[in-house]
Amino acid sequence: MTGQTHRPHLRFGSDQDPDQAPGASTPYARYVRLAELHALQQPRSAEPAEYAFIVTTQVMELLFDLLERDWAAARTALRADDLDAALAALRRGQHTQDVLVGSWDLLAAMTPAEFNSFRPVLGEASGFQSSAFLRLEFLLGNRSEGLLEMYRESPAEYDALFAALRTPSLYAEALAVLARRGLAVPAAPVTARHRHDDAVEAAWRAVYTDPALADLVRLGEALLDTAERVTRWRQRHYSAVKRTMGGKPGTGGSSGLSWLKQSADQDVFPELWTVRNDL
Ligand code: HEM
Repeated sequence: MTGQTHRPHLRFGSDQDPDQAPGASTPYARYVRLAELHALQQPRSAEPAEYAFIVTTQVMELLFDLLERDWAAARTALRADDLDAALAALRRGQHTQDVLVGSWDLLAAMTPAEFNSFRPVLGEASGFQSSAFLRLEFLLGNRSEGLLEMYRESPAEYDALFAALRTPSLYAEALAVLARRGLAVPAAPVTARHRHDDAVEAAWRAVYTDPALADLVRLGEALLDTAERVTRWRQRHYSAVKRTMGGKPGTGGSSGLSWLKQSADQDVFPELWTVRNDL
């Protein structure tokens, strides 16, 4: 090793950003927009646990956006039959999903008394209304046009979801790859929810059993890794809800736990799970 070790600079003469936000004193603060970022956590109650709830929700919202980029990139690569690029994007997404699943730890210690003391300030607010989460559901193929009703008063969110609903899902593009390899796959519904289909299961069975299609096994397994992590997130959400509010109805108007259980019990990419019954 040659050369000397220097500590980082403590003065920054060259970074004269004219719209420097108040409090953004360093190039780092300006780049990361620290002042704006730290102004976004605004608890509405005196309960300290509300801060953790807001931070967790905001962190997850950002991770939803990051994940959407990876899943959209995987979809684009599949459309181009670029399996390596699709697998790389799914793998990046799986790391994001692991952080999303781990983020539930931030709320693991919240007691019912703590949740009850700020629940009234939520009013009707519920994560169910997250349009970023809904775009992820649409990417997976869990589609429902009726849910757009929530965004009637919010044109930007409505338009993004309307467009998302008319673009084939990640799973539809994966099935299109199988079809281009000669497998009989029915056209996936575009605006409706993908439901288990025997012909799709038969196509995956061929992938897993026909040596000529062995390269597509990697795709099936990568999709399964993604699907399993979606379910893990739902299961951790279910546990967090069970710990903090038991079987009470949700702020968003659902029956709470029973509704969340139904959602967690639905397999993502269902044929990739059922095909295992006879592999
Ligand atoms: C302990 C804290 C939490 C409780 C008690 C809770 C409760 C609930 C309940 C009861 C529902 C069903 C809809 C309703 O009636 O409101 C729901 C849905 C949902 N929540 Fe939470 N939640 C919590 C934390 C979070 C966090 C931090 C996020 C992150 C953004 C989140 C995102 C969602 C999403 C995306 C849905 C829709 C789920 C789906 O469609 O499968 N929740 N939540």
